[in-house]
Amino acid sequence: MTDTVNIEIDGKKIQAEPGSLIIEASDAHNVYIPRFCYHKKLSVAANCRMCLVEVEGSRKALPACATPISEGMKVKTRSELARKAQKAVMEFLLINHPLDCPICDQGGQCELQDVAMGYGGDASEYTSTKRVVQDQNLGPLINTDMTRCIHCTRCVRFGKEITGEPELGTVGRGEHTMIGTYVEKAIRSELSGNVIDVCPVGALTSKPFRYTARAWELQQRASIAGHDCLGSNINVHSVHDTVKRVVPRENEEINEVWLSDRDRFAYEGVNSEQRLTKPLLKKDGQWQEIDWTTALEITASSLENVKNSHGVEQIGGLISPNSTTEEHYLFQKVLRDFGSNNIDHRLKHSDFSDQDSLPVFPRLGVSIADIEKQDAVLLICSDVQREQPLLIARLLKVSRNGGSVMTANVFDINGHFMSSKRIIAAPENLIRRLAGLVKALGKGKTLPAEAQRLVADVELDADIEEVASTLLKANNGAIIIGAIAQNSQYSSIYRYLGQLIAELSNASYGILSQGANSAGACLAGSLPHRTVAGGKVTCGDNAKQMLEQGKKAYLLFNTELEYDSANAKLALTNLRAADFVVSFSPFVTDTMQSYADLILPIVPYTETPGTFVNCNGLWQNFTAAVTPLGEARPGWKVLRVLGNFLDLKGFDYVTCNDVSEELKQATSSMADLERPAYAPAALPAFSGLRRIGIWPLYRTDNVVRRSEPLQQMLNAGEFGARINQATADSLQLKAGDRVHVNQGDAEFDLPVIIDNRGVTDCVYITAGVVGSEQLGAVSSTVELRKKA
Ligand code: SF4
Ligand code: SF4
Ligand code: FES
Repeated sequence: MTDTVNIEIDGKKIQAEPGSLIIEASDAHNVYIPRFCYHKKLSVAANCRMCLVEVEGSRKALPACATPISEGMKVKTRSELARKAQKAVMEFLLINHPLDCPICDQGGQCELQDVAMGYGGDASEYTSTKRVVQDQNLGPLINTDMTRCIHCTRCVRFGKEITGEPELGTVGRGEHTMIGTYVEKAIRSELSGNVIDVCPVGALTSKPFRYTARAWELQQRASIAGHDCLGSNINVHSVHDTVKRVVPRENEEINEVWLSDRDRFAYEGVNSEQRLTKPLLKKDGQWQEIDWTTALEITASSLENVKNSHGVEQIGGLISPNSTTEEHYLFQKVLRDFGSNNIDHRLKHSDFSDQDSLPVFPRLGVSIADIEKQDAVLLICSDVQREQPLLIARLLKVSRNGGSVMTANVFDINGHFMSSKRIIAAPENLIRRLAGLVKALGKGKTLPAEAQRLVADVELDADIEEVASTLLKANNGAIIIGAIAQNSQYSSIYRYLGQLIAELSNASYGILSQGANSAGACLAGSLPHRTVAGGKVTCGDNAKQMLEQGKKAYLLFNTELEYDSANAKLALTNLRAADFVVSFSPFVTDTMQSYADLILPIVPYTETPGTFVNCNGLWQNFTAAVTPLGEARPGWKVLRVLGNFLDLKGFDYVTCNDVSEELKQATSSMADLERPAYAPAALPAFSGLRRIGIWPLYRTDNVVRRSEPLQQMLNAGEFGARINQATADSLQLKAGDRVHVNQGDAEFDLPVIIDNRGVTDCVYITAGVVGSEQLGAVSSTVELRKKA
């Protein structure tokens, strides 16, 4: 059998893959065939007929998107027969099309407009009244003008095939055909914005972008999305230095042609009214604007004062994992050269006991593109749909290809990737069941002594046996640890068991780290126990210790700890009690002003050059898409100058690239780390109510939290005590009741939400939402009492 077949397209002799379609072969050789319903990532619908071409030997024109090539085939895309067919289809498509291009948001970027210009006629014989279709409200992200719909069904196939959530469908027949949600409702998918890109006309457009700019006015800059560890490639579009929209930039290895809604619409946050444009100083209880030189002088002298009066160990630095690698590098360099190793970016973590045995930076263990080639994936405490939404598309392919996606979690995440087995239990029980999985996989093998001790009295159940057998049968298996595990007080145990499960089943093991740049943060040394590239250092205090002990001075970089910390209440209490708090932040809020003494305006990722390192260890650099707002400055520059004000050596960088080069140099000679083995002392046991705090999809970082359209999404910032029916019955509660929640020294009232995806004796109270500032640890015991 030959690997290629020889065909001819418009007289051009080409070789193509046997069985491929004419349109695929012509695209691969840059011969354009018009199309509407065909999309390279979707199944073939062949319903628009725009791609009709002449094939020698066939009396009729054939659709290029549905005709496979064969040896010797001769295709003509511009012959008289083909042109006549294409022109006729174009005329039919426009019978009912409003052609309101001057007021259509798609004007200038419309496939229909372009194809009509190239292949249509200049007059139509169809003059009767055009049909009008009523619009549906699909929510805050997608605008509809369904009269413009040409029924290509790309949006319908996208929902079915890529997200696994068929929210849009076709209703009616013939002239009454309509696309919609059947019953009018907002679209819920985390990837919904992609229908804007796949729609070839102005039927589905971006609601936030609508009428704010014309396509030809936009400036485009390539960038990297700044909200999860995938590092999706994006193009940022701006007009007059204001970001107007973000669209995907194709990268088959990462995001293919897609983008999550969080990465697409978060840009609205960078245009927030809370943007800070000048340094602010609190003097005698009043806030006043000051110049940069004064601001940096005060920062330097205040840090010197704290160092001289209380010792440098009284200074702590907390930085967002969403900051660029260069910012992380300079942040830790300023603090370390000043004498403090109290540096951390793991703001949401609660358990650091295995930190010395972890690799230099968190990796996924399998390439993003290869996830879809796995036969078995076990997600341990990962709500992947909320953490890295775009992975749904890859996981769905695992299920479609006959593989198994299994979940072990403290909440039934109900993923649309068709989970084949769900192990759902309260944290301590879940850990016992994962230990059971180790035991099942270890049958007939010699387990390490400490593992034998841990699993000795663990009992197996049928579900665990099934997961074990699926993993053992898989040629390519992946064990992946998610954010819920990483933020748990038992995270080191989850990691220990996850690794053992991977080793025993010959699967890959990895972490889906939080934020856009946890990997870059670790490589750059934003850690208390390791400097650049995992270098040894006297261990400083981690994020939890810094907040528990209460430092005299804090440097906060690109974070609002009231929403980003594992213990919001503790963070606020100790920040307010400190002698000096400087917040490097793109935004200012009343809460920030309640604990900071100085606020320095830095810029978000759209206004600075930088590098993010993704979960595969890929360094992706980007440039600023727009210039900084007002007097706000890129974080790397502010830290560089702060280094000068503190008289530290080696802070003479001219460009951001100088910083990255220095860091790359250091990481290129990364030696193997000495990593002591870690094993938990025992499996945890607990009975009673415990809080599980999960960050909602659109509350994960300071930019996303300010994106109005994302905040309007269903349940974006919902705040309540979510319990299952059994827990509600045992506490004699019902939906809508108000309960008094007691969490150590934190007390507050919340409404009860009944949600049977939860586990008995677990209370799910979200973190990162308005109101959650008053809460204690995200992973802790809690008491609920019905309010009279
Ligand atoms: Fe014009 Fe395209 Fe809008 Fe139709 S969808 S009105 S062709 S710009
Ligand atoms: Fe096609 Fe757009 Fe209509 Fe969906 S709304 S069927 S993508 S034209
Ligand atoms: Fe071929 Fe629509 S693109 S029929």
